[in-house]
Amino acid sequence: MQIVEIIRKKRDGGTLSGAEISWFIQHYTQGDLPDYQAAALLMAIFWRGMNALETSQLTLAMAASGAQLKIRQLVSPVVDKHSTGGVGDKVTLAVAPLVTACGVAVGKMSGRGLGHTGGTIDKLESITGFNAELSRDDFLRILSEHQLVLAGQSNELAPADGKLYALRDVTGTIESIPLIASSIMSKKLAIGASHLLLDVKFGSGAFMKTVESARELASTMVEIGRNSGMHTVASITSMDQPLGRAIGNALEMKEAIAILKGEGPDDVSELCYHEAAELLMMTGKASSMKQAEQQVARAVHNGAAIKAFAEVVAAQGGDRRQVEEPDLLPAAPSTVMLTAPHSGYLATIHAERIGLVSMQLGAGRFKKGEEIDHRTGLVLQAKIGAYLQAGAPLVEIHARNEQEAHAVQAELLSCYTWSEAPVPEPQLIWDTIR
Ligand code: URA
Repeated sequence: MQIVEIIRKKRDGGTLSGAEISWFIQHYTQGDLPDYQAAALLMAIFWRGMNALETSQLTLAMAASGAQLKIRQLVSPVVDKHSTGGVGDKVTLAVAPLVTACGVAVGKMSGRGLGHTGGTIDKLESITGFNAELSRDDFLRILSEHQLVLAGQSNELAPADGKLYALRDVTGTIESIPLIASSIMSKKLAIGASHLLLDVKFGSGAFMKTVESARELASTMVEIGRNSGMHTVASITSMDQPLGRAIGNALEMKEAIAILKGEGPDDVSELCYHEAAELLMMTGKASSMKQAEQQVARAVHNGAAIKAFAEVVAAQGGDRRQVEEPDLLPAAPSTVMLTAPHSGYLATIHAERIGLVSMQLGAGRFKKGEEIDHRTGLVLQAKIGAYLQAGAPLVEIHARNEQEAHAVQAELLSCYTWSEAPVPEPQLIWDTIR
């Protein structure tokens, strides 16, 4: 086979065969093809797209490029969940222990934050001693002993995606539905859970800017899952303002713990309980959404959810007392309250820019591999639709020192718009694709 012929075929709008796609993935992963030819093919795919069969074949070839954990052969059912990422998104931290507390195993590999969106692993590492870098054997052992494991993404899984993602990042080819869908789903297939719940976000703080594009991405991934024997469902949710109130690693961990105890903010708690209930329905643990929601509420109120989380934290080397008493989590030395500059209804909060302010405080990375400060971030005191008097608390800044807190104030204020007329609270959950 000739790579130039494959590039030309896609450039001219042709359909690639399964053999051509597998050949490209195998040879690019082995290092037999140069980046410039792979980049040319990615750009051709970006412009010409891929049909459902090509996208499935690309996903399967990427999944087969490295190790395959097949966790469903160890425990079944075993669920996985994935969010396309957003600001203040601590949903995995709450949903995974909730589902385990209701009797369904969860094996989850997550990423670190890059750019304005945070990463689940960084949030977990705000707990002293927590170890997310597990060997394959430890991952499987903790999963079978605790029915829950939360680890960093292994480089052994889908190495083709690792190489292609890095190339896409520097060649303007990230925002392509077949490329995003195959990238996410190849890693999910390589882990091999029996059930997968996707949270596909849209809005100012998300990859997908419109609900239509989020639906298209979600449908593509649900179909890939179905064709590969992984029961996959996707929720379409809005990221037009940060989720919950906390942004930043230890602050989000604290909020996730509050959600597990039934004390979290309404919007993010509702989403976590909804996603946990959906997973119980998918795996047949509940026969209706109402029954599933009751099971979830019971696990919150009888303490089973927080216990499941404390146990996995301890199993992965973390200090479980910080889960039981979240005030023991690391805290920033300086907190400054920014107040409303005038009276009015909060009309918009620019999620992406709020995420960037939190990064500037040290909570996120501008470059891969950078050190972060787990203690810093923001706690929103009001969300869209709230009425605030001038001088009322707007956002609490958690910083390494007072100067850094003051340095972000003007930028923070510019993330908000105000209205004199009442503003409705935005809808969070838009759709479910089965
Ligand atoms: N997340 C991924 O894993 N891959 C993409 O392409 C986009 C988001």
